[in-house]
Amino acid sequence: MSRSHPLFARFYAATSLRLEKGLTPHRRTLLEGLSGRVIEVGAGNGLNFAHYPAAVTQVLAVEPEPHLRNLAQAAAAGSPVPVTVVDGLADDLPAGDASLDAAIASLVLCSVPDQDAALAEIRRVLRPGGQLRFFEHVRATTPRRHRTQKTLDALGIWPLLGGGCHCGRDTLAAIERAGFTLDRLDELTTTDTGMPFPAAPQILGTATCP
Ligand SMILES: C[S@@+](CC[C@H](N)C(=O)[O-])C[C@H]1O[C@@H](n2cnc3c(N)ncnc32)[C@H](O)[C@@H]1O
Repeated sequence: MSRSHPLFARFYAATSLRLEKGLTPHRRTLLEGLSGRVIEVGAGNGLNFAHYPAAVTQVLAVEPEPHLRNLAQAAAAGSPVPVTVVDGLADDLPAGDASLDAAIASLVLCSVPDQDAALAEIRRVLRPGGQLRFFEHVRATTPRRHRTQKTLDALGIWPLLGGGCHCGRDTLAAIERAGFTLDRLDELTTTDTGMPFPAAPQILGTATCP
């Protein structure tokens, strides 16, 4: 099940820390008000863990990349809420049907091989009325920038650098196509987050499972 991307994992572990100043406020917004049992899909090196509110009783953090999973396990030890880090993939989550109150997807729906399969699986594990919280970089709104993103994705340049990441995906459309109801959407740019093009713009929001 593990997906080893040793170079990307070490690159992300280093650069993500440098981006945190810009990302931390958005991670807090992503997680604020959550309670109960939560699954975090593609938890990386665990940078969300410090921001879970106390009302969260359990976080199941799924991470397929071994180096990042080790870092996430270390981060889990310092988390204010219980976090269990496990191997797994977004399209085959280790949780029962309707067993969870919320799912977190942050900077991961860009990397899953099939967004529709991953979102169907997230929907499966959420209880009716459960929330999908998402923070994702997405396709640009200007045609010129979107063309550049599509080229980087199609040539395989961005996926190669980013451990399977795609910069030009319409993730909001995929979330809605999966049957979630959009409750909240913040549209963010590099000015808000510090994340540069082609990993800009970003969307941050909440959607409810039917
Ligand atoms: C850019 S990192 C983001 C990490 C973390 N969510 C964050 O907010 O910093 C993308 C993560 O998605 C993970 N990932 C890639 N493909 C995945 C898949 N099919 N299922 C679950 N996670 C995946 C990667 O291993 C990596 O940890």
